[in-house]
Amino acid sequence: MAPTYAQTFAEAKTDPAAFWLNAAASIDWEQKPTAGLDESRAPIYAWYPDGVLNVCHNALDRHVAAGRGENTALIYDSAVLGIQERFSYAELLAKVEKFAGVLRDAGIGIGDRVLIYLPMIPQAHIAMLACARIGAVHSVVFGGFAPKELAARIDDATPAAIVTATGGIEPSRRIEYLPAVAEAMGMAGHKVSTVIVHHRDGFAHQRSEFAGTDATWHDWDDLAALAEPAAAVPVPATHPLYILYTSGTTGAPKGVVRDSGGYTVAMDFSMRNIYGVGPGSTMLTASDVGWVVGHSYIVYGPLIAGATTVLYEGKPVGTPDAGAFWRLIQDHKVDTFFTAPTALRAIRKADPAAELMAGYDLSSLRNFFVAGERLDPDTYAWAGEKLGVPVVDNWWQTETGWPIASNPVGLEVLEPKAGSPTVPVPGYDVRILDGLGAEVGAGEEGNIAIKLPLPPGTLATLWGNDQRFIETYLEQFPGYYATGDSGYLDADGYLFVMGRTDDVINVSGHRLSTGAMEQVLGSHPAVAECAVIGVADELKGQRPSGYVVLKSGAGISEEDLAGELVAMVRAHIGPVADFREVRIVAALPKTRSGKILRKTMRQIADGKPYAVPSTIEDPAVIDELIPFLRPAGR
Ligand code: COA
Ligand code: AMP
Repeated sequence: MAPTYAQTFAEAKTDPAAFWLNAAASIDWEQKPTAGLDESRAPIYAWYPDGVLNVCHNALDRHVAAGRGENTALIYDSAVLGIQERFSYAELLAKVEKFAGVLRDAGIGIGDRVLIYLPMIPQAHIAMLACARIGAVHSVVFGGFAPKELAARIDDATPAAIVTATGGIEPSRRIEYLPAVAEAMGMAGHKVSTVIVHHRDGFAHQRSEFAGTDATWHDWDDLAALAEPAAAVPVPATHPLYILYTSGTTGAPKGVVRDSGGYTVAMDFSMRNIYGVGPGSTMLTASDVGWVVGHSYIVYGPLIAGATTVLYEGKPVGTPDAGAFWRLIQDHKVDTFFTAPTALRAIRKADPAAELMAGYDLSSLRNFFVAGERLDPDTYAWAGEKLGVPVVDNWWQTETGWPIASNPVGLEVLEPKAGSPTVPVPGYDVRILDGLGAEVGAGEEGNIAIKLPLPPGTLATLWGNDQRFIETYLEQFPGYYATGDSGYLDADGYLFVMGRTDDVINVSGHRLSTGAMEQVLGSHPAVAECAVIGVADELKGQRPSGYVVLKSGAGISEEDLAGELVAMVRAHIGPVADFREVRIVAALPKTRSGKILRKTMRQIADGKPYAVPSTIEDPAVIDELIPFLRPAGR
C-alpha cells in the first residue's frame, strides 16, 4: 500500500538523514552518496556530502538514455508573438550541449558565475541548463528590474559572463535589454568581459552598438555555430547550482545559494509527492524564470521529473484576454497548472462569470496550484467552483526553493481548508514560536519557524556570506530557521500563514523590499525622512505606499515631488515595484529611540485594529496621519 502523508511526514521527521538518503536513490549519481547529512558545520548543514552528480544530466540525458528522447520536454507558447514551438528531450539536450560548449569555449568552467538576463523564451532554459552542465553557477535576474538592481547583482555574484537577449515583450511595450545591461555593467565595480546576446527581431538596439566597450558582445547563434557539444561535468552534491537574489529588509539583495544534489532530490521528490507529476504529465507554471517558482517549476522540476513543461510568454489578461490560461490548458493538454493568486484575481476582475472558460476544453486539467502570496478565500472559492478541480495553495519562499506547506496531492489528497496552504510538507518540521522562542499552542499566532535541519534543496547559504545567512535566518531562534512569516497551526495540524513579520511586501506575487524603496526616496534632496509600507490591494495583494516628510524650505509641490519620486523608484528598482503612491506628511510616528512605527501605519492603512506602542515619542502624530493612511474611499 502506498504510504500516507502522515507516515511519510513522520519518517522524514524521525530520521531526516536516512529518509533523504533513501529519496536520493531516485535520481542518477556519478557517485552515490553514502551519507545523507553533514552536520559538522551546524547550524549550516549540507546534504549528501560525498555524492557526485550533474543536474543537467538528471534533467535531460537521463531521460534520453531511458528511451524518452522523443517525448516533448519543452513547449514554448508566446502569446505576444503568436507562436508555439516544441522541443523533444533529444532536441533540447542537443541545444543545451551546444550552448554548454559555447560557455566552455568562452573560458567558463566549474564554479564560474554566469548572469542570465532573459525574457520568457527557450534560451532561458538552454542557458540555465548549459551552466548546470559544465558546473557554472547561474544567476538569473528578472527582466522587470532596473539597471541599478542588475548592477548590485553583478557586483555580488561577480559573473564571468552575461547571457541576454535584445529584449523582452510586455503587452504595452518592448523592453530594450541591451542598453539596460550596458548601463548596469557601467555602474558595477566588477567588470564583466563577455556578453552573449540572443537576437530577437523588433528591437531598436543591437549588439554591434556596444562593440568597443570593455566587454566583448557576442551573438549567441554565431558562437553556437562554431561550438562543439559539451559533456555533462560531474560535480559534488554540495556544489552551487545557482544564486537567486531576493529582497530582504534592507536595500542589499540576498543571494540565495542552491546546491546541486539536494536540489535535484528535492525537485524529484516534490514533483511526485506534491504535484503528482511524472513522465507523461504536462505542467504549465505561469510565473517568470527570474523568480524561484520559475526556477523550480518552469525549468528544473518538470524536466527532472521527465514531464513536459510549458513556457508561457504572456499575461493572464490582455494577451489577448482573460481566457489566455484556458486556451493554454486546451492547446497543450495541461494537467498541472501553477500560477500566483494575483493572476486569478486579474482574470476574475476581467471575466467574473468565467464566461471565456466555456469556449475551451479543460478536461486534461487535474490540479491547479497557486503560490507566491496569500490565497484569499474568495479567490479560492471562485477558482474551485469555476475550474472544478482541486485548487492547491502552496506556501514557500525563494530561500526554500520548494513548498514548505501544501496539500501533498501526489502522496495523498487531504481535505482542504480555505485560507490554509494545508499541512507542512514531509521534511519541514514547522513550529510556531513566540517572540522568546517558546512554542505556542494550537490556534495561537506566532513566528513560523522550521526546526533545523531544513530538508534538501533549501538554501545552503547566502552567496559569499555565511555570517549574513546565520544572522538573518538562524540566530533569532537558535536551532530553527526563521521564515519571516507569522501564522498558526490549528488543532488538526493545518498551517495558516498570515503575513510577513518584517518589511518585505508582496506585490502581484513579486517580493519587494520597502527598505530598498525608502533608500531611493531618502536620496531625494527635498526628503527629510520617509516610510514605505505595503497596504492591502484588491488586485495585487499589496501595493507600496510612501509617506515623506519634507526638509524645511524644500519648496516643491506635492504633485511635482510625487512625480519625481515615482520616477526615481522606477529608475532605481524597476517598473515591477509598481510604486505609484506618495503622500507628504508633517511627521512620521516613531518610538523614542527613533524607530518608525511601520506596523502601526500598516494596520491603520488596512483598516485593522491597531496597536500604538507605549514607547511612541508623540502620540499626536498618529492622529494627524490617519487621514493620509486612510483617505476617503480606501
Ligand atoms: N520585464 C519588464 N517589465 C516588466 C516585466 C518584465 N518581465 N514584468 C512586469 N513588468 C512591468 C510591467 O510592464 C508594468 O510596467 P508599467 O508600470 O509600465 O505598466 C510593471 O512592471 C508592473 O507589472 P505587473 O506586475 O505585471 O502589473 P500589471 O498591472 O501590468 O499586471 C497582473 C497585473 C496581475 C496581470 C500581473 O501582475 C501578473 O501577471 N501577475 C502574476 C505574477 C506572477 O506570476 N508572479 C510570480 C510569482 S509566483
Ligand atoms: P518569494 O520568496 O518571492 O517566494 O516570497 C516568499 C513570501 O511570499 C513568503 O515569505 C510569504 O510571505 C509569501 N507567500 C508565498 N506563498 C504564500 C502563500 N501560499 N500564502 C501566504 N503567503 C505566501
